[in-house]
Amino acid sequence: MNVVILAAGMGKRMRSELPKVLHPLAGKPLLAHVIDCARSLAPATIVVVYGHGGAQVPESIAGADLRWALQEPQLGTGHAVMQALPHLDPGQPTLVLYGDVPLTGRDTLARLAEAAGAERLGLLTVDLPDATGYGRIVRDDGRIVRIVEHKDADAATRAIREVNTGIMVAPTAALARWLGALSNDNAQKEYYLTDVVAAAVHDGVEVVSAQPAHAWETLGVNSKRQLAELERIYQNRVAESLMDDGVWLADPARIDVRGELSCGRDVAIDVNCVFEGAVALGDGARVGAHCVIRNARIGPGAEILPFTLVEDAIVGARARVGPYARLRPGTELGDDTHVGNFVEMKNTRMAAGSKANHLSYVGDAVVGERVNIGAGTITCNYDGANKYQTVIEDDAFIGSDTQLVAPVRVGRGATLGAGTTLTRDAPADKLTLSRAKQATIESWKRPSKKGGARS
Ligand code: UD1
Ligand code: CA
Repeated sequence: MNVVILAAGMGKRMRSELPKVLHPLAGKPLLAHVIDCARSLAPATIVVVYGHGGAQVPESIAGADLRWALQEPQLGTGHAVMQALPHLDPGQPTLVLYGDVPLTGRDTLARLAEAAGAERLGLLTVDLPDATGYGRIVRDDGRIVRIVEHKDADAATRAIREVNTGIMVAPTAALARWLGALSNDNAQKEYYLTDVVAAAVHDGVEVVSAQPAHAWETLGVNSKRQLAELERIYQNRVAESLMDDGVWLADPARIDVRGELSCGRDVAIDVNCVFEGAVALGDGARVGAHCVIRNARIGPGAEILPFTLVEDAIVGARARVGPYARLRPGTELGDDTHVGNFVEMKNTRMAAGSKANHLSYVGDAVVGERVNIGAGTITCNYDGANKYQTVIEDDAFIGSDTQLVAPVRVGRGATLGAGTTLTRDAPADKLTLSRAKQATIESWKRPSKKGGARS
């Protein structure tokens, strides 16, 4: 089939410079959700009708498989679909979706397409307790005969609870004909896509309907409040599916997944964690409260303690990270490593069994196994123009408050005395330190205030 996604509308009620369909839901533009769902149906073509916001919309959405049709000015939903016609294969039915209705499920759309087949007009409809604002489905003897927009409806029609969700499937050649004959003689002076229903009935084309599995699948976003409502619906669904897979969530209402989170067995996630991009948590991994984890792999049995930020990093099995740790891009922690509070790591490989437990910056470094990095250690990796690497070999011991001025290497089993500023390589198995000699001045007396006894 063909898919047309309407995304030209203005979205005035969002009160934003950003085009409505580019507002993120779960970290991804509304329109991208609709496109991904369309792709899951493997259509022959996907045409996105854009207009308001101009080139910003196509420029923000990637996809070599997408075709873009400009609608300028925006004269209604029927006029919008008309702009897509040149891209459509007339031999296949066309599914119309809305760029601001992000949660429609693949199964619901497949059911609608199935009901419509190649010859019928299919409408996705839903019964709403309050149908205000929606187009009403008018039936005669059970058969759909037309849609009447709320603004054009009389009191009796407004009493109808079955509404048009806007999503439809139509035989394309007939659709083109019906659109060509639309008029804008209505309350909004627009070319209504919904008027093709009466045209189909007039041509003797059967009009059928399907209902979504869940009513929220048809909810659209017109305001920031609705965006937040849909975000919660989406997140609740993710939380439920995680729990169904056996993940322990301290509170399903306090987790946000903005991407793909995959979990092994017996994973535990405490409150207020945010997962972004592709995150994998191994068997038995535990994530403490208030962590943000983005594009990362956390090994089995690893523990991420509260208030930790992990980005583009790999954490080995049984590692312990945090509280208050920051793993920046390119960090790879081996098995059984420990990274403690106020430690920042960037582009650093730290092998199995090594520890940096307190208050350190380790950047552009290669750290061997069983290394101990003392509190307050800093790799001075940047001279203001270039970055250099620090290498710390297996079993080295870095005393507290040490600066490693890169490029520099600490040999296997070497010990650095506390407070060392290391500017040349430290040989293996030796103690190296740079430190002013400690002295005690025997004759020194603390000065006292001149001119009196008052202290
Ligand atoms: C439309 C339907 C109504 C249905 C409702 C469901 C029509 C005439 N009415 O009404 O029956 O109950 O959706 O939400 O179709 N758009 C364009 N170009 C335009 C106008 C709209 O691309 O010129 C896009 C919008 O960006 C939006 C969608 O079409 O994604 C729906 O437009 P909107 O103006 O919200 O339609 P409604 O009046 O809500
Ligand atoms: Ca709308």
